[in-house]
Amino acid sequence: MAMMDLKVYLKDRKRLVDQALETALPPPERPPERLHEAMRYAMFAGGKRLRPVLAIAGAEAVGGTARDALPVALAVECIHTYSLVHDDLPMMDDDDMRRGVPSCHKAFDDAVAILVGDSLMTLAFELLADAALARRVGGLGLSAIIREVSVAAGTTGMTGGQAVDLASQGKDVDAETLLYLHRCKTGALLSASVVAGAMAAGASPESLLALREFGDKLGLAFQIVDDILDVMGNVEILGKPAGSDRRNGKATYPKVFGLSESRRQASRLIEEANAALALFGDSARVLRGVADYVLTERINRANSLPRVFEAERIRKTA
Ligand code: IPE
Ligand code: IPE
Ligand code: MG
Ligand code: MG
Ligand code: MG
Repeated sequence: MAMMDLKVYLKDRKRLVDQALETALPPPERPPERLHEAMRYAMFAGGKRLRPVLAIAGAEAVGGTARDALPVALAVECIHTYSLVHDDLPMMDDDDMRRGVPSCHKAFDDAVAILVGDSLMTLAFELLADAALARRVGGLGLSAIIREVSVAAGTTGMTGGQAVDLASQGKDVDAETLLYLHRCKTGALLSASVVAGAMAAGASPESLLALREFGDKLGLAFQIVDDILDVMGNVEILGKPAGSDRRNGKATYPKVFGLSESRRQASRLIEEANAALALFGDSARVLRGVADYVLTERINRANSLPRVFEAERIRKTA
């Protein structure tokens, strides 16, 4: 898919998702006003809406429509946004900016930010309990979707990865632990977005298997790129200042493998992700385009920033 077409597609799907989120989130004038206002603040601060786009593109790859995937798309964005609000808290990564504005706990306070996370997480499952979706996929289909999303968000997925991420701070982790924590904290939800989106469109078991492989590879590559950008990027690319990982002594790909090898691994994963889509033909062109976009777009922008000698960057990361 040509980059221009992809950009138009992404903009269009993002608009659809944002409109639906606008009605899905409680109105700010309804009590408790401050909590509702903070939920909206975190949600509408920006964000690429990559996970909802993947849910929609997953549905489209198996012959479904954006409408089919919408409850899944909204649910995964609620879970993702909650994870960011908690991730930024002082007792976690202690980041003061997110999506280009003060983090939720900075604009409000820590207790409100904790409740925003709790509320977005529960809202995600309220949105999955969608009557039209249940009618379309049946009781078993819906329970499979709910299971897919909740497993990815829980201790074998996102929260588990976050726990290992925190426990690894300041330590020398081996490559296996690093792989495990990246797959859990970020890969799991990204992968579940594609898979559950396709489930909502009645995908076959073979399609789901291929999409899961695609999502797993893409999800891991995505966190590797996130780590690379925390070294190479800037506030305009990241929506927050670079260098958070180094400050926190995080276990990252650049720290363990260096920048060049991290980049090589990310591009190999994207190639493998795309190879997993072989059985889909043209219906998966958006998924292929998104995979390339994830890898290249922000890295290219970071590459065009004033260059620091690479060895210096790696030394600073270590
Ligand atoms: C950032 O995710 C956190 C990770 C899980 C790597 P995104 O880069 O998708 O953040 P937004 O949603 O665009 O703000
Ligand atoms: C995020 O990892 C994983 C989450 C589940 C939130 P990071 O801590 O690297 O994400 P950023 O860099 O703060 O967005
Ligand atoms: Mg973190
Ligand atoms: Mg963080
Ligand atoms: Mg990061």
